[in-house]
Amino acid sequence: MKTEIIVVDNFSTKEMGYTQAVNLLIAGDTVAFPTETVYGLGAIATNESAVAKIFEAKGRPQDNPLIVHIGSKEELQAFTHNVPNLAKVCMDTFWPGALTLVLPLQQGSLAKNVTAGLNSVGVRMPDHPVALELLNRLKQPVAAPSANRSGKPSPTKASHVFHDLNGKVPFILDGGATGMGLESTVLDFTSEIPTILRPGGVTKEMLERVIGPVHESKLTDHAEAPRAPGMKYAHYAPNAPVYLIEASLQKVQLAIESIHSEQKKVALIATEQFKTTHVDYFFSLGKEHQLEDAAQLLYEALRSCDETDADIVLVPTFSKQGVGTAIMNRLEKAANGNYFSTNL
Ligand code: TXA
Ligand code: MG
Repeated sequence: MKTEIIVVDNFSTKEMGYTQAVNLLIAGDTVAFPTETVYGLGAIATNESAVAKIFEAKGRPQDNPLIVHIGSKEELQAFTHNVPNLAKVCMDTFWPGALTLVLPLQQGSLAKNVTAGLNSVGVRMPDHPVALELLNRLKQPVAAPSANRSGKPSPTKASHVFHDLNGKVPFILDGGATGMGLESTVLDFTSEIPTILRPGGVTKEMLERVIGPVHESKLTDHAEAPRAPGMKYAHYAPNAPVYLIEASLQKVQLAIESIHSEQKKVALIATEQFKTTHVDYFFSLGKEHQLEDAAQLLYEALRSCDETDADIVLVPTFSKQGVGTAIMNRLEKAANGNYFSTNL
């Protein structure tokens, strides 16, 4: 299969891009498109064989449900029921935006493989002009996970999608780099108290301001069956092992020296103040304390490590405040929970 990329912010190719994307989706194919968080790989959510192509292209485990994307709230009636009032408040406040709501599913309304047999469905209205234009032309719900090979960092540019899925998907709508850079917050409304299954750009504090108490599921507790099935798999990882390290210039420099003493090379993914360390490869996460910038740059930095011969990737930690919670959630997964120590 040949993978075509069309730039949709360019006036001359825009119309052709949307027309082709809509036609492919209606014909039961997949299309990659930008959202404000990361690029998604979409198929019409009622078409089981089209949705199967998403799992196939990504190499995604079948028990990991997909997020359904809609262009207007009216579409919800066709596949959800008993939507709690607090969920409606969230929609009014945060949609379009980076908040996925897990709601009761109307049995039989979507292809079974979208929800992995669960009786709930994750749904969101993305806040990106290209995604909204596509969804509003199509007027049907689109199931779309992040458009990466399973286990790799989510794509924040069309070139990342091409790198992972070239030859496996027919079409990529290129709308430039995504703004947020981390996936949406997943908020479960099927539990008694709304529960964050995956932290993202819409933080616990932002949610509690409008709907009151919100729980956070213990995503790192491996003993507990994960509520968001996707959270149990290794994720966001470059080829070389990732180690977290305390965000101290001195500790990072000592770690680098210790790794060098074993004739190994190090890549460091960190904010600018770590640039002075004598590291083999440095990938910047922007200025110190600019968490939004770090979120936006993180996945590209993790991907860049695969273009080096680094043996180890070091990442100084972030404080778990605001978007820092989402950044640390992804980093702990990329590092498989490992922290650097000199007796590795
Ligand atoms: O920002 C995003 O959310 C991006 C863009 C493309 O919209 N999408 C995305 O999808 O990150 P994906 O498939 O990579 O992650 C979906 C997450 C997984 O952790 C999955 O287990 C969880 O949402 N999820 C989906 N439906 C669920 C459900 N019914 N119950 C619990 N968790 C669900
Ligand atoms: Mg994903």
